[in-house]
Amino acid sequence: MSDHYIEFRNVCKSFDGNLVLDDVSFHVDRGETCVIMGRSGVGKSVTLKHILGFLAPDSGRVLVAGEDITDWTEEQLTEIRRRVTMVFQSGALFDSLTVAENIGFPLETHEDMTEEQKEARVVELAEMLEVSDVLDRVPPELSTGTKRAVAIARALAQDPEAILFDEPTTMVDPIMADHTGNLILRLKKKFHKTSVVVTHDTHLAKKLADSIVFLHEGRVAYFGPWAGFESAPEPFIQNFRRQDELIPELDVTA
Ligand SMILES: Nc1ncnc2c1ncn2[C@@H]1O[C@H](COP(=O)(O)OP(=O)(O)OP(=O)(O)O)[C@@H](O)[C@H]1O
Ligand SMILES: [Mg+2]
Repeated sequence: MSDHYIEFRNVCKSFDGNLVLDDVSFHVDRGETCVIMGRSGVGKSVTLKHILGFLAPDSGRVLVAGEDITDWTEEQLTEIRRRVTMVFQSGALFDSLTVAENIGFPLETHEDMTEEQKEARVVELAEMLEVSDVLDRVPPELSTGTKRAVAIARALAQDPEAILFDEPTTMVDPIMADHTGNLILRLKKKFHKTSVVVTHDTHLAKKLADSIVFLHEGRVAYFGPWAGFESAPEPFIQNFRRQDELIPELDVTA
């Protein structure tokens, strides 16, 4: 058992002899937002996949919703994947379904809800994520930013306890990135859901994070609040921050 909502205890994971996660430990408390940063290929997506049991550690333990899921069966993990949902890096929407059908998809198996209740939930989520005007469209007709918003709405559909976001603001222009960041910030303030956000966008991290995990060469180089990250002396952390600071923060209200 763990008092934290998510906890990694000394997790190691290799692929074909390549050590990706090397003794990784961190935790996320209930209602908090943890931002995972680090360079491309460092193991951020791999970390998220451990939280949902899509990957299991070679050694160490992964605890989710307070329970040690490391040795759980696929059947037990189904329950975790209902309580914790993921907004994938690619969006992973169904191209042949409309936006409304995509958002409502996780509700299809909910026999405790009527069709009217399901429809009302879809409408409510679409309003919240500002995608009401595209409910009848299909994903290939939408911009990447709009697809992201739809993917977030779908991840919220079954009212999960926690949401994992993999790079929610990449591959869009800075204004759209800021817009998506603000949506996630609003959700955080409104619902206080436990969240893990993978990003290399330091503006987003500063806005959202209760804690930062910075991965470097497989290890946790920093775990703690933003303020400590900002003043961390390690040259590779300073470099990482500096690169992102070159992109000016946009004021979309101007
Ligand atoms: N299923 C897998 N089989 C083999 N290698 C894998 C697998 N999943 C990830 N890897 C390797 O693990 C390393 C970390 O991958 P990961 O996708 O977590 O990186 P990332 O930090 O999310 O990078 P990016 O910022 O580019 O998304 C990479 O070297 C990748 O090739
Ligand atoms: Mg990734």
